Amino acid sequence: MKVFSGSSNKPLAEKVARQLNTNLSPLEIFIFPDGERRVRVSDKVVDEDTVVVQSTSPNPDTSYMELFFIVDALKRSGAKSVTAVVPYLGYQRQDHVFRDGEAVSLEVIIETLESVGMNKLITFDLHSIKIPELFKIPIVHLSALSLFAEKIKEIIGHSPRPGDTILVSPDMGGIRRIKILSEMLSNMPFISIVKDRDLITGNIESNKIDTNLPDFKRTAKRAIIVDDMISTGRTIDAAVDLLIKQGIGESVVFATHPVFSNDYKNVLQNSKASGIFVTDTIDVPEEKRFGKLEILSVSKMIAKELKV
Ligand code: R5P
Repeated sequence: MKVFSGSSNKPLAEKVARQLNTNLSPLEIFIFPDGERRVRVSDKVVDEDTVVVQSTSPNPDTSYMELFFIVDALKRSGAKSVTAVVPYLGYQRQDHVFRDGEAVSLEVIIETLESVGMNKLITFDLHSIKIPELFKIPIVHLSALSLFAEKIKEIIGHSPRPGDTILVSPDMGGIRRIKILSEMLSNMPFISIVKDRDLITGNIESNKIDTNLPDFKRTAKRAIIVDDMISTGRTIDAAVDLLIKQGIGESVVFATHPVFSNDYKNVLQNSKASGIFVTDTIDVPEEKRFGKLEILSVSKMIAKELKV
């Protein structure tokens, strides 16, 4: 098996290759002065199973074009199969028509990937569990929740008092994720915040809690907020503030994809969350990091899947 990397998340691709006891195979990516990319596979791949690791944030459009070209180049060079590891699948929030007249951008991306010859896709924590149904080729939908569960066990220690710590989804869309995590943590109690987002301005309002735990304000001392991604950080900031109003002073945040956009750094560093854990599905170079941030790696999970 030969492993190639696009330019969006080379640190993760290198870790995956190391886990597979190999090195990244050489790939030339040349950028023309006007921004066009030229991709060339300089290794022999005839009849080889190949893997290309490419995340799609930041710069989703450039990253996708690069990925299309890499898959095409591998196929034209005679690769037996191409598995695309796209740990963060950009455009996943545009998976259906929200308002009349919109494109279904994710479908366009998937159709293009399939038409250039991708044989299989490995990805993480999709925004909606219906997304795999949009693919005609096999898709492996992995989750960082097991990594989060291990970290949460470390945080709460060995003998937590029942009800001390609760899981929180910052919106109703995340409730399925929270239920799975709750099961991994011996049925840890959970609640969900009700979040409304204005589709035109993007402004959010988080001012209600959906729960069948009438007692949570009295018993809970610590909240573990879990989301699929953090972009501007406003969802998390609003959730932490609402929990403080409910009397829960400590919040620790877990999110799979550090999409990190706009002034996320100020928003998150100044939020009252005590720690923010994300994964390396998207590369976070040194200059984008901040004090409270900790990054967990999904590389072992990817390597394990590739060995199957
Ligand atoms: C939305 O439904 C997602 O699950 C995230 O909550 C959202 O994308 C986070 O965005 P932001 O950090 O900009 O509030």
